[in-house]
Amino acid sequence: MEIDVFTLFPEAFDWFAGQRHVRNAVEGGLRLDYVSYRAHTPLTGGQVDDTPFGGGAGMVLRVDVVDAALRGHYGRDPLDLHRERRVVALTPGGRLLDDALVEDLAGERALTLLSGRYEGFDERIVEHLATDAVSIGRYVLSGGELAAMVLCDAIVRKLPGALGHEDSVVEESFSPALEGGPEYPHYTRPAEYRGWTVPEVLLSGHHERIREWRLEQSRRRRGDASDPLR
Ligand code: ADE
Repeated sequence: MEIDVFTLFPEAFDWFAGQRHVRNAVEGGLRLDYVSYRAHTPLTGGQVDDTPFGGGAGMVLRVDVVDAALRGHYGRDPLDLHRERRVVALTPGGRLLDDALVEDLAGERALTLLSGRYEGFDERIVEHLATDAVSIGRYVLSGGELAAMVLCDAIVRKLPGALGHEDSVVEESFSPALEGGPEYPHYTRPAEYRGWTVPEVLLSGHHERIREWRLEQSRRRRGDASDPLR
């Protein structure tokens, strides 16, 4: 798989790129690249954004800048890219990210992620240059970099070899193995701490009973509005 992240701050991804599971995925064949809008801008002085038409606070990422960055990096009209890769704009008003969307994107051969900055994108970027608009939640971050990292992380951990233990992805929260529900609770040593005990069944070594207990806990969490994870 190939993921290109377009950003104003490629260095913001240094920490992410160094994480063990990301390096594992790269060693396993993932190509992860960061492309600077500023390096491709046709405007003087490295300009990439502008004041919004109609007035208002903040700055908006320009459509000509994103068009030039895509064209400069891929060497063709960005509209022609849509046949070969999904171009995902990270924006608070986009489709809400969930496990099904992550799974869908993780199945692509190639992805381009567009991070916005300041007040966001000129809408024509989302409308014409992107194929998808994705939001990581109904709140506004100061830029799309963190959102792009969240999306990349969720995708990368689904790639073979990223996590040491393959089962960790199969039976995690919101996966089909748990009927789309949240994950069951985990416990580790000590088996008792300040009188707080671990459910007996987990210490029983009885795999079938443990499997049933976990599925039951996942179902209960999904149905129980008072659960702290909801
Ligand atoms: N950019 C700023 N806020 C965002 C959000 N909530 N999701 C995706 N991209 C964003």
